[in-house]
Amino acid sequence: NSTPRRFKHDQEILGVNYHRQIANLEVLKQQCQRPLTLTEKLLYSHLITGDKEWNLEKIERGKTILELRPDRVACHDATATMTLLQFISAGLPRVMVPTTVHSDHLIVSENGAAEDLQRATSEHAEVYDFLSSASRKYGIGFWKPGSGIIHTVIFENYAVPGGLIIGTDSHTPNAGGLGMLGIGVGGADAVDAMSGMPWELVAPKVIGVRLTGQLGGWTSAKDIICKLAGILSVSGGKGSVIEFFGPGTETLGATAMATICNMSAEVGSTSCIFPYSEAMRRYLDAKNREYVSEAALKVKKTILTADEGSDNYYNQVIEIDLDTLEPHVNGPFTPDLAHPISQLKIAVTEEDWPTTLSHAMVGSCTNSSYEDLDKTRQVVAQANSAGMGKFKVPFLLTPGSEQIRATAEADGILDELRKAGAVVLSSSCGPCVGSWDRKDVDVKGKEKNSVISSFNRNFVGRHDSNPATHSFVTSPEMVTAFAYSGRLDFNPLSDSIPVGDSSFRFTPPTDCELPAHFETGEDTFQEPPPDGSGLSIALDPKSDRLQLLTPFRTWQPQCANKMELLIKVAGKCTTDHISPAGPWYKYRGHLENISNNMLTTATNVFLPNTSQTLGHTRNPLTGQVQVVPEVGRELQRLGIRWCIVGDHNYGEGSSREHAALEPRFLGGVAVIARSFARIHETNLKKQGMLPLTFHDPADYNLVAEGDRITLLGVEEGEFQPGKQVVMRVQPRHGQAWEAQLNHSYHLGQISWLRAGSALNHIKATMLQ
Ligand code: F3S
Repeated sequence: NSTPRRFKHDQEILGVNYHRQIANLEVLKQQCQRPLTLTEKLLYSHLITGDKEWNLEKIERGKTILELRPDRVACHDATATMTLLQFISAGLPRVMVPTTVHSDHLIVSENGAAEDLQRATSEHAEVYDFLSSASRKYGIGFWKPGSGIIHTVIFENYAVPGGLIIGTDSHTPNAGGLGMLGIGVGGADAVDAMSGMPWELVAPKVIGVRLTGQLGGWTSAKDIICKLAGILSVSGGKGSVIEFFGPGTETLGATAMATICNMSAEVGSTSCIFPYSEAMRRYLDAKNREYVSEAALKVKKTILTADEGSDNYYNQVIEIDLDTLEPHVNGPFTPDLAHPISQLKIAVTEEDWPTTLSHAMVGSCTNSSYEDLDKTRQVVAQANSAGMGKFKVPFLLTPGSEQIRATAEADGILDELRKAGAVVLSSSCGPCVGSWDRKDVDVKGKEKNSVISSFNRNFVGRHDSNPATHSFVTSPEMVTAFAYSGRLDFNPLSDSIPVGDSSFRFTPPTDCELPAHFETGEDTFQEPPPDGSGLSIALDPKSDRLQLLTPFRTWQPQCANKMELLIKVAGKCTTDHISPAGPWYKYRGHLENISNNMLTTATNVFLPNTSQTLGHTRNPLTGQVQVVPEVGRELQRLGIRWCIVGDHNYGEGSSREHAALEPRFLGGVAVIARSFARIHETNLKKQGMLPLTFHDPADYNLVAEGDRITLLGVEEGEFQPGKQVVMRVQPRHGQAWEAQLNHSYHLGQISWLRAGSALNHIKATMLQ
């Protein structure tokens, strides 16, 4: 049997239970006969039943909290350190849900695959050793550096139609190209699932996107999502799953659908999904996963497609006609600034964007499939036939995975691209995530320049930390044509490029959905042993990048009495303000060190609003103005408890759990805000912090510098779901006053508070 090892492994731990999914849906349908959207089928078939009964009529989109059982969890190397450290502190012997770790974010692009990989394995040896050893011990599959980008590797090896995967990366919806619902989460959520706890999600709304017609010419799948980003904006998909339907869905290949689902993260959606199609079967079969396509075919109607008439239950419907869709170039600085190619030239002139391109890049988890690389090659082949020579601008190419690299190498694609001047990078994130040692422009001097890529995100400084880099995203074939023109105001559909005494115009490449044969490439997968209990984890106690977590103390009675007010935050306070990234990135596996960044970019109401006072507060003991974490640490050292007062939507932005871990680590007890971003509120609860909201938001204004705060009604027996808490405020001078506070704890979450954290609770439950 020549089936490669990774496929055998995959078959063993596939983990999708179609029988259970069908049974769940049957129960729900008995209560209510209405047709279900595909999104509903995939989510509700993963509901945890047991003692809880779900009633379809009572599930309210945007409100009801679903308790789900994901089939799979994935983490990449930049988020896996804290995720695994949290899992370790739960004290479980092994993950309860199939989990994989992917080494893709830390590899810095500079000189090409071989050298860059060597640099990464030496610079990050400590992190890789930790991830590899912890993965072996806890039954986690570990994909070594060079394996590929997390979402591509999942798509190739683990995506199963009808399944539910959560990943600690926002582009996890990529799996929707194979009909699997993928949702990006924070590490604490991943740990819940890995520990066998229910994973909670607010029932999302569903945006239906009806596709008609067929793509043609230069228009590709990327243009569908670029167009949709222009329609919905970067926040238009918030709280919703985007569900594609209509005849146009049948015309798209699996990796093309993955491109669309992947970039759906750019409209802020929860996920994105396509119904099961012939193209998905073709892809699965080409990957030697016929056992998946055969099983999927049997449940196509029951699980993998929307019920007839369910389009009446979409919260919003958007129509896109593929026959008339134009190729798009989106940017700069935001992926929803959509330009149909016929309008780009005008925008470039009007906005005065740098016309000369400084770099062209094909890659990222959005567009680095075999088809993408082949279309790139076709454009290069045309240029060669026309005698155009090499690219006019530096060209970087990232194959999505080792399998794609090996296949493209075997088919001569990479060689042809190298001859045209492409630098082939390792199969990893590279410039897409800013892991790019860029030398061609003065990054520090903020040199103005334009780059064009097939990536998904183009926020300020995303690729090279230069705020003056104007980044535009489009399809790989368009990027390649632009690379021969060297200009941003180029239109491959209508413009010719001078070649000697004549000129040449490209014709659109043709689709090549799948290669004749997929190579497997080097085996870069580390399979965990059946029993890792006797194994140890590589973690140097003296490391400044990694540190084991010490379980937080259980709730201490009266700990919410006379708390010092550490800081009263004014206005926007995202998880980036609470735990900034940048130079702190490397400390993400070391809670003690990264806690030195806590709230260091937040605005303190009580200090003048200048860049010097950002992240500062007055030490209540000395009156001195110091950085927030310094004061928090000192209070903690002296055994003095403290709390934070926040404004509206406290903790919005990424789901970074460090923003909740840090205040808890430094001795914080509560965050009292006008309102919370949902994920951060849950993260605080998980780490044993008390998130509370002012019943009357105006009470926020009454809190003064130096106030001491006592919470009444939070002790055991008093604190109950739906019951308000009283905040008694004792000013330094003057009369005490009281305010009512609300909370959103349900019974299960109160156990987290008493245990000191959700992890402590899991541990205690498992030991019973
Ligand atoms: Fe990596 Fe960029 Fe995707 S960072 S996971 S390639 S969005």
